[in-house]
Amino acid sequence: MPLDMSKTLESGSALESGNAETNAFMSIPGKEQHGQPLEQDSIDPRHLEHISIHTPRRILFLYGSQTGCAQDVAENAAREARRMRFSASVSAMDDYDRSLLIREHFVVFIASTTGQGEEPDNMKKFWKFLLRKSHPSDALDHMEYTVFGLGDSSYIKFNWPAKKLYKRLMQLGAVPFYEPGYADDQHYLGVDGTLGPWLTGLWKVALEKYPIPAHLEIIPEDVIFQNSFSLVFDPKDKGMGMNMDMEKDHEPILDFNTEPGSYLATMIKNKRITDPKHSQDVRHIELSIKDPVFPGYHPGDVLAMRPRNLASDVNEFLKYNGWTEIADDPLTIVENLSDHRLPKHIPHRQTLRSLLTNHLNVFTTPRTSFFQLLVHFTDDEDEKEKLREFVSPAGQDDLYSYSHRMKRTIFEALKDFKGVKVPLDYMLDLFPIIMPRSFSIASAPLVSVQEHRQSARSHDADKIHGKKMIHTANGDLSADDNLEGELEWKVDLCVAIVYYKTKLWKWRTGICTKWLKSLQSGENLVETSTSAVESAPVIDAATTATTVNEPAQFWIRIQKGTLKLPKDPSVPLICIGPGTGVAPMRSFLHHRIYAQGATENVLFFGCRKRDMDYHYRQEWEQFEKEGRLKVFSACSRDQEDKVYVQHLIEQQGPLVWNYIHERKGTILLSGSSTRMPADVTRALQRVIASQGQMTIEQASEYLTRVEKEGRFQQECWA
Ligand SMILES: Cc1cc2nc3c(=O)[nH]c(=O)nc-3n(C[C@H](O)[C@H](O)[C@H](O)COP(=O)(O)OP(=O)(O)OC[C@H]3O[C@@H](n4cnc5c(N)ncnc54)[C@H](O)[C@@H]3O)c2cc1C
Ligand SMILES: NC(=O)c1ccc[n+]([C@@H]2O[C@H](COP(=O)([O-])OP(=O)(O)OC[C@H]3O[C@@H](n4cnc5c(N)ncnc54)[C@H](OP(=O)(O)O)[C@@H]3O)[C@@H](O)[C@H]2O)c1
Ligand SMILES: Cc1cc2nc3c(=O)[nH]c(=O)nc-3n(C[C@H](O)[C@H](O)[C@H](O)COP(=O)(O)O)c2cc1C
Repeated sequence: MPLDMSKTLESGSALESGNAETNAFMSIPGKEQHGQPLEQDSIDPRHLEHISIHTPRRILFLYGSQTGCAQDVAENAAREARRMRFSASVSAMDDYDRSLLIREHFVVFIASTTGQGEEPDNMKKFWKFLLRKSHPSDALDHMEYTVFGLGDSSYIKFNWPAKKLYKRLMQLGAVPFYEPGYADDQHYLGVDGTLGPWLTGLWKVALEKYPIPAHLEIIPEDVIFQNSFSLVFDPKDKGMGMNMDMEKDHEPILDFNTEPGSYLATMIKNKRITDPKHSQDVRHIELSIKDPVFPGYHPGDVLAMRPRNLASDVNEFLKYNGWTEIADDPLTIVENLSDHRLPKHIPHRQTLRSLLTNHLNVFTTPRTSFFQLLVHFTDDEDEKEKLREFVSPAGQDDLYSYSHRMKRTIFEALKDFKGVKVPLDYMLDLFPIIMPRSFSIASAPLVSVQEHRQSARSHDADKIHGKKMIHTANGDLSADDNLEGELEWKVDLCVAIVYYKTKLWKWRTGICTKWLKSLQSGENLVETSTSAVESAPVIDAATTATTVNEPAQFWIRIQKGTLKLPKDPSVPLICIGPGTGVAPMRSFLHHRIYAQGATENVLFFGCRKRDMDYHYRQEWEQFEKEGRLKVFSACSRDQEDKVYVQHLIEQQGPLVWNYIHERKGTILLSGSSTRMPADVTRALQRVIASQGQMTIEQASEYLTRVEKEGRFQQECWA
């Protein structure tokens, strides 16, 4: 698109006349003009000449993504755009130099949703910036845009960030060129169910607006795009294995540690808490963090870790692809595109084995873009035809049956399409990157430290836990720095190991929980002998201990959870946490009971069978005996008719109503996001309707108000 100089000059004059509002869009942090550092959010239009983003037919994809799906959508869309001869750039919203926004004419925003309708972390700054009241209503009138949201309709605030972004951009004068799209995890095809048709429409409109120049044509689909990265093996490194300057990468430091806020955790307990006869393996995991700069955590915080693939699985994958011989040869990952950088946590120097162990996920269900790219890697015409059919609009149901319904993995798909030979240079385009997994912390910080101090006291308390923990007014912990010694933080997790049968009766495992299950803890060093320390060389030792007698260590980060306790401990609390949803509830209840002395606590817990999977039963019963907790357990399969938490909530209508209405209490809900949150919400509405003498519509509005006051919060996951 030709540069609209009149607009540019207009903006420039407004700025020169001191229009601070537009200036905010034009800030060029860190640049200097005539020796004068520019203040943040100020602009000198003379800078504009240095900015050369006005390539004709430029399209910018800005994404906000918490766990990588929106990023994946943005990167694939940019590739498609390049096929249509657009000059496409991709960036996380917060990484984008927003001083350039005033010069962007054609932008596609892609935003997922996290928390309770919140923006992902990497768009928070950008969003805050857009919200500034000082922006004039025509600040972005040079820009045409559209928005694609990723969300899950089981959440009340379905796709909120994308919807709010769409509106806010319009308020700032930007003009939508195409209708927004809102993907729903509940769609049987997942994100692809909405994305496919939406993209088809997007390209149609985009090409009408910016037709391909006469001398060019759309790059046909059988022409493969430039690989984003190349894997370069240096023959002189052959056989060098780890004995080279990549040595530093072999410490148990490969991923999170490259960013501030990562801490090394040692696994001290990894214990199955469901009955051995029960089909579901749920683990109580205890981690110890001794890093002196670890800032601790709060009740309701979430722990994130990046899992790895097991050595035996990686070996099988390497063998299948004929890469075993070169698996341990050092290689360098070279970036080929200026706007597609290697994620920061992936080292440029490593080996094929470390890449497949620590960074690439070939054991997950493939996205449509995987099949799109795969077409290029087989010479078998039947396979090509099948793959083309899968990615065509008409083939979506077939793709669903083949891929999503059966939860086929990428590795299995490769084995089905036997003619496929994956070129090493396309690995990073073809295989998704292993994303961190989150787990609600199931312990309260104060309790954990006290437990340790007590157990340490009998040994050498001063040496091990010399720092005295004090309970501050706001319920936080702080260390009394006058006392010397090493402080150890303990973090508990309650983890369901993902292991299920598909419709084809094939067993499936989850990447992170399979890995967690395999790890040996300080407690089970002797017992564990199989998968944790497999025979294959684990050259990078990123996350597991390399010898049988060491507990596993890995890097973790602490993130703020969505759920928050009421500040005042005398406010009653209703916790609803079926299954592993009980994890954050344990953190809150421990904190309320041990640290705050609160007694008005209710827990609605759900499990299948009292004797099989009633997590932390003894603790709840003990608290109940002490008059500090009322617990209602819904054991769904102990009788003929299912009993779920929502049934007990309705049974306890008067108590629930008293806590919500009379006492202005707080309700916290956590667990599986499939159907449970909607069912529980309906049960709460029914309680409000019957106890408060309201219609269901009024009760629903009432609950929405309670939610807006922060007294009904949920954190659920798929
Ligand atoms: C904020 C937050 C807190 C969380 N807290 C906890 C927690 O305390 N405890 C906990 O156990 N998990 C928790 N999770 C979930 C956790 O992050 C992982 O998603 C989970 O452990 C699975 O990871 P995985 O890598 O093992 O599985 P993946 O390899 O990611 O596979 C998971 C996928 O497998 C499929 N799947 C799983 N089970 C079935 C089934 N029975 N039938 C059909 N398909 C299935 C689903 O598509 C699912 O999305 C939390 C998630 C979030 C976002
Ligand atoms: N993505 C999925 O398909 C999916 C969904 C949920 C769980 N899972 C698997 O199960 C593991 C453990 O999950 P979990 O910790 O949530 O425990 P869970 O054992 O699956 O569920 C806990 C309790 O919640 C009940 N429940 C089921 N549907 C409910 C609903 N709509 N409302 C209220 N309660 C309901 C269950 O009953 P019943 O089992 O008797 O119905 C059970 O008694 C996961 O890691 C995963 O492997 C997978
Ligand atoms: C902890 C958590 C909270 C979520 N909250 C919401 C929400 O409030 N509203 C919504 O529409 N979707 C919500 N989602 C669904 C995500 O937006 C959806 O899964 C999306 O595809 C994730 O994209 P990302 O990987 O780019 O972050 C939530 C998902 C998780 C795991």
